[in-house]
Amino acid sequence: MTDVALSLKDVSLARDGKFLLEKVNLRIRHGERWVVFGPNGSGKTSLLRIASFYTHPTSGKVEVLGHELGKTDIRKMRHLVGFSSQGFADLLRPSLTALEVVMTAAYGALEPWWHKYSKEDKEKALLELKRIGIEGLRNRTFGTLSSGEKQRVLIARSMMSDPGLLLLDEPAAGLDLPARENLVNGLSLLSKDTSAPPIVLVTHHVEEIPAGFTHVLFLRGGKAIATGTINETLNEKNLSACFDLDLRLQYRNGRWSAIAEPKQ
Ligand SMILES: Nc1ncnc2c1ncn2[C@@H]1O[C@H](COP(=O)(O)OP(=O)(O)OP(=O)(O)O)[C@@H](O)[C@H]1O
Ligand SMILES: [Mg+2]
Repeated sequence: MTDVALSLKDVSLARDGKFLLEKVNLRIRHGERWVVFGPNGSGKTSLLRIASFYTHPTSGKVEVLGHELGKTDIRKMRHLVGFSSQGFADLLRPSLTALEVVMTAAYGALEPWWHKYSKEDKEKALLELKRIGIEGLRNRTFGTLSSGEKQRVLIARSMMSDPGLLLLDEPAAGLDLPARENLVNGLSLLSKDTSAPPIVLVTHHVEEIPAGFTHVLFLRGGKAIATGTINETLNEKNLSACFDLDLRLQYRNGRWSAIAEPKQ
């Protein structure tokens, strides 16, 4: 089997005569953990939608785990990719337990009573809660969880089908500081798990990069303006160019922070 989980070759997406993505090239291998930066409207969500087969690119080649988009039955490919975005929390009944929220993903359902769950389903759901560090919350109802805990439950849910690629679209948006740190710690735990699939995390903030992440993609105006390892590519020059602002970047104990250069 190929060690490339996601490959985009010259991928473009055009709508209403405008490029939302333009000739993006990206190769994500097993074991890698990617962060995607870009200002509002730079094409981050569009990129994730293409990688999870919800949007077809206008041109270019997309391969996920060796399956080429357009050449394989899309129904067979969807379960290969785990996708988590903020709006999903609102679709869930607040009285479901955290364990049920994760377990229902085994059948792509939102409610537990449509299916009979096996002992294996339950054990698998518990394992996924454990991998992201929240097995202690398994019997808590979803509605009573903090926003950060909810996001961790949703990430565990997207891992239930054993995806070969995990895509997370701004999971920390709108969280307060403790909730954000709680989520980032969970993602750091998952990212260090060698059996976890490659992860792609979309965010606007370097503070949200979990320790252990390996690669970065900077998008601006639908173009990949820099791509590579965090060591070589996450720097003041690329970050400033991406957000069109003179930024100072700091690194401490595996975590990053950024501020604008003070005006003289
Ligand atoms: N179906 C569509 N038709 C036309 N324009 C679209 C469509 N979907 C998205 N866009 C536009 O494409 C651009 C990129 O959108 P996208 O959602 O990918 O950005 P983003 O980087 O995720 O932004 P944000 O940080 O705000 O989430 C935006 O200008 C958006 O308005
Ligand atoms: Mg978006």
